[in-house]
Amino acid sequence: MAEVEIYGNYKGYQGSSRLTTDENTNTHVVDERLTLVTAAVPDIFTNKDVLDIGCNDGRITVGIGPNGEIDYFPASAVEDAGHIPYMRKIDDTQFPFKVVFTCEDFLRWGGIGGESDQCDVIVMLSMIKWIHLEHGDCGLRNAFEKVSRMLPEVGYLVLEPQGWDSYTSAVKKFPELRRNREALHIRPEDFSGILQSVGLELVKDIGGRKRPIWIYKKPLKR
Ligand SMILES: C[S@@+](CC[C@H](N)C(=O)[O-])C[C@H]1O[C@@H](n2cnc3c(N)ncnc32)[C@H](O)[C@@H]1O
Repeated sequence: MAEVEIYGNYKGYQGSSRLTTDENTNTHVVDERLTLVTAAVPDIFTNKDVLDIGCNDGRITVGIGPNGEIDYFPASAVEDAGHIPYMRKIDDTQFPFKVVFTCEDFLRWGGIGGESDQCDVIVMLSMIKWIHLEHGDCGLRNAFEKVSRMLPEVGYLVLEPQGWDSYTSAVKKFPELRRNREALHIRPEDFSGILQSVGLELVKDIGGRKRPIWIYKKPLKR
């Protein structure tokens, strides 16, 4: 039987977007979820430090990068704007050079420069179920607390939670997670209460899809 890994890149994974539209899911097409998020909060990613947890092959992550400016990514930019000069000076503080990937378990990750690391926006698309299944209810609470700690005031969390039915399919794929799932008391519908208890406020609930996308904000302290 072929071995399947819990972590890493899912072969041919097209994201949950494939569940709702017939849109082109080629790698150079911006994911539908990013389009929905930027429509809901227009400047959410503009000039922000973004942490994309559970980024798979990084396709969504690089989609966040250019903020809609032509930056010779995706490949169709060549059609729209021609080729770049060969001798163009490279600014390594700009996209795509400023995108860094690290292979870690978020709960065990100490951050790029330590636990005090902050980033303006944290993205968790179709991944929280894996933290929940592997680390249990306690791990889930710790993950949401860690997210809240890492966000500055007016920082955002973009969360696409998986439904409880999808935990069942995960267990079919990874039977060793069955016991963990049976020990869980928290359900996806409890997440909003937990997020509120760690100091995050729901500002947008993007529905009309198989999986909702919730945008939370860390409010300004008064
Ligand atoms: C279903 S994929 C989602 C990919 C992408 N976010 C998307 O929605 O298109 C789940 C990802 O979560 C990652 N993952 C699972 N457990 C994790 C953990 N504890 N910490 C960080 N990433 C994790 C997996 O490696 C995988 O890349």
